[in-house]
Amino acid sequence: MNEFKNPFRPGAGHQPPYLAGREDEKLRFEKLLDQNPILDNLILTGRRGVGKTVLLDTFKPLAIRMGWLWVGTDLSEAASLTDTNIALRLLADLSVVTSSVVWRVQEIQEYGFTSKTKTISETLTFEMLLELYNQTPGLVADKLKTVLEFVWQCLLPQNKRGIIFAYDEAQNLSDHADKDQFPLSLLLDVFQSIQKKGIPFMLALTGLPNLFPKLVDARTFAERMFQIVQIDRLDEAASKDAILKPIEDANCPVKLTDSLTLIIVQKSGGYPYFIQFICREVYDVGLQRLQIGEKPIIPLDEIIRKLDTDFFAGRWAKATDRQRDLLVVIAGLDNCDQEFTVQEVVEASKRTGESKQFSASHVNQLLSSLCDVGLVFKTRHGKYSLGVPLLAQFIQRWHLQK
Ligand SMILES: Nc1ncnc2c1ncn2[C@@H]1O[C@H](COP(=O)(O)OP(=O)(O)O)[C@@H](O)[C@H]1O
Ligand SMILES: [Mg+2]
Repeated sequence: MNEFKNPFRPGAGHQPPYLAGREDEKLRFEKLLDQNPILDNLILTGRRGVGKTVLLDTFKPLAIRMGWLWVGTDLSEAASLTDTNIALRLLADLSVVTSSVVWRVQEIQEYGFTSKTKTISETLTFEMLLELYNQTPGLVADKLKTVLEFVWQCLLPQNKRGIIFAYDEAQNLSDHADKDQFPLSLLLDVFQSIQKKGIPFMLALTGLPNLFPKLVDARTFAERMFQIVQIDRLDEAASKDAILKPIEDANCPVKLTDSLTLIIVQKSGGYPYFIQFICREVYDVGLQRLQIGEKPIIPLDEIIRKLDTDFFAGRWAKATDRQRDLLVVIAGLDNCDQEFTVQEVVEASKRTGESKQFSASHVNQLLSSLCDVGLVFKTRHGKYSLGVPLLAQFIQRWHLQK
């Protein structure tokens, strides 16, 4: 009888039923689309689950509407790319939008009793791009630049504004000096060089908070090459929209009271993934109870416990005992949800009693090992932040004796 389907979608890269907030971010992206020549590229950065992937997805139709072409992919598997791999990756992505673009029309004489001419149009397929790439002498970067320039020449008659190269999870790109492979530097070098020549190919990279420092480590000029759009929790109004809009016009049998809505805002901290997660559970439980003819009640404690086992426990399990001791100290900081310094952690550890005291060098060392597993990020100016939103609250729930 009940036709209403739960609209909420907790899951990496799943478009939410309503994408709340992010208006400023869209405006900033639109400004970048207005550039000619291209001086700034986009970095969309933030912690896991804040909505980078789905926001990048919504930028795509926006860019296309403004006359841009859009290519790109997810770089989750990019950790071991070589120079040649990244070049071929770019060509493969590019060929998706160029494969119907004609670059040469040939008239071929057919000989017989009467001579006929036949016209053949050749297009920018992947094979053609690859052939040009292989024929070009020089280093990988030279070959790639030649192909990109050629493609832009062929595109000129189409009056496009340019091409966006959108790469998600770009923090996975790395140089490997030990293997003499520098795919990350190559990408930056090539785009800087073609942009200097006035070719409107723009990078739109999304990634975790270590992305930008990583790019600057590879090439210092990256600092001037990107505009950084940082996203985090939604504010209260946007959080409410994310909770209420999906159910407002649908024929939804379970309604949320104002106070329950507020509780969801608080428990989720305004973080998009947690909003989707909690709302999904709230509606599953609510709808089930309605089906058996009972009044919906919302077991929030159970939902939070489910979140703890489904989301946090696995991440917590990655930490060693000593790392956990440190995380517990961090979760006790007043500013544990923002950036904190090594010194603040050292001071706080002094207040926790003998067994949990840490020296500055020990804190440094543990934080850097926590960065390796993604539980902590190093932010600019030598500060740190917890790598997963609401991790501090999880620790407070389970591991902090107050
Ligand atoms: N602005 C938003 N409003 C509502 N839900 C959102 C919003 N942004 C993201 N979400 C939801 O949050 C979850 C995480 O989004 P995702 O784009 O995968 O995050 P990230 O790429 O930053 O890890 C998804 O379930 C998505 O539907
Ligand atoms: Mg993502």
